[in-house]
Amino acid sequence: MKIIQITDTHLSALKPQFQENWKPLVEWIDSMEPDLVVHTGDLTVDGADFEEDLVHGRDMLRDLRHPTLCVPGNHDIGDVPGTRQPVDGERLSRWRRTIGPDRWVHDLGEWRLVGLNSLIIGSGSFEEYEQLAWLEDTLRARDGRRVLVFKHKPLFVEDPAEGETGYWGLRPEPRRRLLELFTENGVELVASGHLHRARIVEGAPFRRVWGPSSGFVVGPMIQMPYGDAIVGAAVHTLGARIESQIVPLDVLKPIVLDDVIHEVYPPSSSQEALS
Ligand SMILES: [Fe+2]
Ligand SMILES: [Fe+2]
Repeated sequence: MKIIQITDTHLSALKPQFQENWKPLVEWIDSMEPDLVVHTGDLTVDGADFEEDLVHGRDMLRDLRHPTLCVPGNHDIGDVPGTRQPVDGERLSRWRRTIGPDRWVHDLGEWRLVGLNSLIIGSGSFEEYEQLAWLEDTLRARDGRRVLVFKHKPLFVEDPAEGETGYWGLRPEPRRRLLELFTENGVELVASGHLHRARIVEGAPFRRVWGPSSGFVVGPMIQMPYGDAIVGAAVHTLGARIESQIVPLDVLKPIVLDDVIHEVYPPSSSQEALS
C-alpha cells in the first residue's frame, strides 16, 4: 500500500507563481502508481479569501488519476482567532462546498487514515469540539486497524511539551489532548505540512513526518532551524511496518518564497503569509 503525501502547493490562477510545479508533480505521481494521494493543505494561495482559488485548486486536483484526499491549510480556510484570516462559517463552508470535508476517515484494509482540520484546533469553536468528539469516536472505533493521521499544522515544532509557537504549531493545551488521544489509540504516524521543511522524526509514541512543500521553499527570511528546505513529496509505504521517505524532486523548481513574496503575499498580509 503506497500513499503519496503532497503538501503546500499554493496553487492559484490569480497568482500563478507556483503553478509551474503542478504539472511535473502530477506526472511524477502518475509514474509512482500510488494507491492514494493525500494533500496536507495549503492547496491554494488564498482560498481563505478567494473562492476562485479554491475552484482552481479543485480543478487542479482533478488532474490526479489516483484517489486523492485533502485536508485544509491556513491559506485555504484561515487560521485560529486573532490571526488575519480567522476560520469562520463562510470560509469553512466554502472549503466543504468546493473541495470536500475538512476532516475525514478513510479505511484501507487494515489501515485507518484520519484527516484533521488543524486550523480550528485551539479556537474554542463549536467546530473544534465537534471535531474532537468525532476524533475520539473514530479512534476508539478503529476495530484493530492501524492508524495514520494527516493534518496541515504539526503538533509541535521540536518538543511535545513546548509552549506556544505561534504560527508554527498547535497551541499547548489542545496539543496535549491530541497527544494523549493518539498515544492511547496506538497512532503510528502523524504527517503534516505547513512548515515548508522536510523532516522525519522517529520515536515514541509515533513517527512524525513534515512533508516537503511541492510548491516552494522559504529562504533566509524565516529562521527555522529544523528540517530541510527542499521541494518534493513524501511516500508512506504501509506494510508490517510503515516506511516513510522524503523524496526531493528535481523536476520541481525550487522557487524561493522570499523572491516573490511581494507579489504573492504583499506586505499587508506577509506577516502571516509565510507558509
Ligand atoms: Fe500553512
Ligand atoms: Fe504553506
